[in-house]
Parts: sequence; structure tokens; C-alpha cells
Amino acid sequence: MKALLLENIHPVAVETLEKAGFEVELRTASMHEDELVADLPGVTLLGIRSNTHITPRVLEAATDLKAIGCFCIGTNQVDLKAATERGIAVFNAPYSNTRSVVELVIGYIIMLARRLPEKTERMHAGIWDKSAKGSHEIRGRTLGIVGYGNIGTQLSNIAEALGMYVIFYDIADRLAHGNARRMPSLDALLAEADVVSLHIDGRPGNLGMFGEEQFAKMKPRSLFINAARGFLVDNDALRTHIESGHIAGAALDVFPIEPKAQGDAFESPLRGLDNVVLTPHVGGSTQEAQEEIGWFVSGKLRNFMAEGSTALSVNLPAIQPPPLREGARLGFLHHNVPGVLASVNNLLADEGANVSGQYLATAGELGYVVTDVAEISAEVLAKLEASPHTAWVRGYQS
Ligand SMILES: NC(=O)c1ccc[n+]([C@@H]2O[C@H](COP(=O)([O-])OP(=O)(O)OC[C@H]3O[C@@H](n4cnc5c(N)ncnc54)[C@H](O)[C@@H]3O)[C@@H](O)[C@H]2O)c1
Repeated sequence: MKALLLENIHPVAVETLEKAGFEVELRTASMHEDELVADLPGVTLLGIRSNTHITPRVLEAATDLKAIGCFCIGTNQVDLKAATERGIAVFNAPYSNTRSVVELVIGYIIMLARRLPEKTERMHAGIWDKSAKGSHEIRGRTLGIVGYGNIGTQLSNIAEALGMYVIFYDIADRLAHGNARRMPSLDALLAEADVVSLHIDGRPGNLGMFGEEQFAKMKPRSLFINAARGFLVDNDALRTHIESGHIAGAALDVFPIEPKAQGDAFESPLRGLDNVVLTPHVGGSTQEAQEEIGWFVSGKLRNFMAEGSTALSVNLPAIQPPPLREGARLGFLHHNVPGVLASVNNLLADEGANVSGQYLATAGELGYVVTDVAEISAEVLAKLEASPHTAWVRGYQS
């Protein structure tokens, strides 16, 4: 079986898939729709990053395609509805760059507390301006983390290891790590934090959630960081509060409008301000994160093909069955209508098959059932194949 990996995916993915028995072709560039339509027949697994667009026309031509690995965070470049209709599993790597973001935020905190943006700018301008004025240690300061998910919790642990006090606010019930303190409201956090760092997700209700009112509630001379999503923050309000001196510094990695292509002009009300760090959405962009993504997504593709695991698939019902150590496994993706599970079990009972494990998940119009048995006959596979509710049926051998 062939795997085609585009857009310079990390070699660790090639290694993983070759070990799993795939013939792997690695290309550095992305492919246009016409090229994909021509080249995808015969390809079982496709690996892409964000520049390859998988349209319904591409999927129609890709008659042998079983799964797509998005070796990145987003999956907007894939027509998920069309992929789902064809039973093609799509995987991504939502958390592989968590550590990279956390390290950048720690760097921001220290840079802002020492007013390094101004100092380095003056040095480049040939000015020696040695002074401790306005420079602080971060030890003993309070970091307020808004959004205590994957990134927020990891930041919490590292900030505490550096001697910071951590408080956090999350709309979900999150367990406090280390000595971190849960705050009852965003306002309570803003009243205590010396540094406020946003790590919430981009759900619709969060649009513009941090504006004039929230900046005004922050402590005088506190610091503000946004490495989450650009549209969460009113940057005009932030500019006003930096200019007034109420906010002593800010670091931003994400913006409401970001340039599309390399080299495009960047516009923001935050340009040209003292003690403000602006970075081009690079929080998760490290070599280590790329390797982590390569390892993570290729592992999901391998497990899907070898054992029928749809764990963390973004479009198919998610099942993570235990590793297939003995016997056989039946994977059955079907239309989510009543009675399908019973019909599978009746069929297996008629065969005298002894079921050793069974897992079911449904999502929208699809259902997925994984059944472990000693062996699967060709007759069972053929009967399920012929069912009007079948999307696909696959047998796996230990
Ligand atoms: N800068 C980058 O390159 C980069 C890289 C990766 C992730 N991110 C962004 O970082 C953010 C966090 O990522 P994550 O993986 O930790 O996400 P996550 O889903 O694990 O955590 C988000 C947390 O925010 C909480 N939350 C949502 N809305 C909230 C609100 N209004 N108030 C308080 N809490 C709220 C959720 O309950 C959840 O616990 C996301 O916006 C993500 O897009 C940026």
C-alpha cells in the first residue's frame, strides 16, 4: 500500500509508515487540485500540511484513499463533509506544539519584566543605556492564566518552577496543578495578576472577550500576553492602556487579521510601541513541534490502518480499541440507524463466533463498531459489505 506525504513532512513520519509496511513517497511541495486528481489513485494514505486543499473533486478521484493525515493543527484545508461521506478518516495534531507555545510565553514574561525590547532596540541603534530602572525579576510575581487547558496547565507548572505564583480562571472545572489557585471569576484574576496570559480557545462566544473593561481592571503596571487567538482581544484598547502607562508591556503572537503570505505587510495598532513584543504567530513553530506532529499523526494513521483505531479522528466516530494482540478484528463503519449493532451480532452468532471485545461509537450520521473475535470468515465480511447501511467493512489480523 502506498502513502504519499506532501509539504516536507518530518522524516519521522516516513520511518513510522515504512515500518508499518507502507511504500512511502515524500514530496517537498504541496499539490494543486489537478495534480492530486491525477496522482491520488493508488494512494491509500495522504499526508498534508496547510497548503494542500482537499476538495470533493480530489476525494472523488482518490478511489483508494482510506485516510488523510493533516500534519498540522487545523483541518480547514480538507472538505471534512466530503471526506466523511466517503468514510475517509482525517487526523491532525491538536496538541503537539503545546510545549513550544509555553516556552515562548515564558520567554515573553522575562523579556517584558526586564524591558528587553527597548534595551535591544537601543543597542542596535548604538546606544549603551545600562540601568535597572523598570526591570524586575519574575520570581515572586503572580501569573494569571486565563484558560487552563493543555497550554495553560503546562505554563502553570513551568511558571511555578521559576518561582512565580500562579492563579487561573477557566469556565470549565479544571484541577489546579501544583500550588496554582483557581479564581472564581476573570475579574478576580485581573485584580491580582502581575502578568495576564490568555490561553483560551476560539469558540464563537470568545470573540472580543478581552477589551477596554478588562484592561482597565488589570493592576497598574501589569503585563499582558496573547498567544491564543487574535480575535479575542481589542488591540486598540490595549494600545490606549499601554500609552497611558497603565499596562507596562505586552507580547502578542496572534492578531485579528494576519498576513496570508510570507513577506506580506503586517498592520496593527500595536506597532511602534515601547515594551511590546510582536511575533508572527510562531508560538507553535519549532523543529521539535514538527517532529512531534510527524510522530503523532503518522502513529494515528498506522493504528487506523493496522487495528481500526479512529482515536482522535476529527470526522469519524472515535474508538480507541486495545492493541490487537491475538485473533482478528472487524471494523464496521455504517449509517447510524437503529438495529445495526444487533444485525452484526446476529451474523457473528450465526457463524458461532465468540466475541472477545466490542466497542461502539456514533457521531452524527455515522456509527462505527469494532468487534474482536478469534477469526472472521470471508462470508461475514461479504454479508456486511452487502448491507445497505455499510460505509465500509474491514478485517484486521493480529
Ligand atoms: N500561538 C500559537 O502558535 C498557538 C499554537 C497552539 C495553540 N494556540 C492557541 O492557544 C489556545 C489554547 O490552546 P490549548 O491547546 O491549551 O486549548 P485547550 O482547548 O486545551 O484549552 C482552552 C481552555 O480555555 C477554556 N476557556 C474557553 N473559553 C474560556 C473563557 N471565555 N474563559 C475562561 N476559560 C475559557 C476552556 O475551558 C479550556 O480549558 C487556543 O486558542 C489555540 O488556538 C496558539
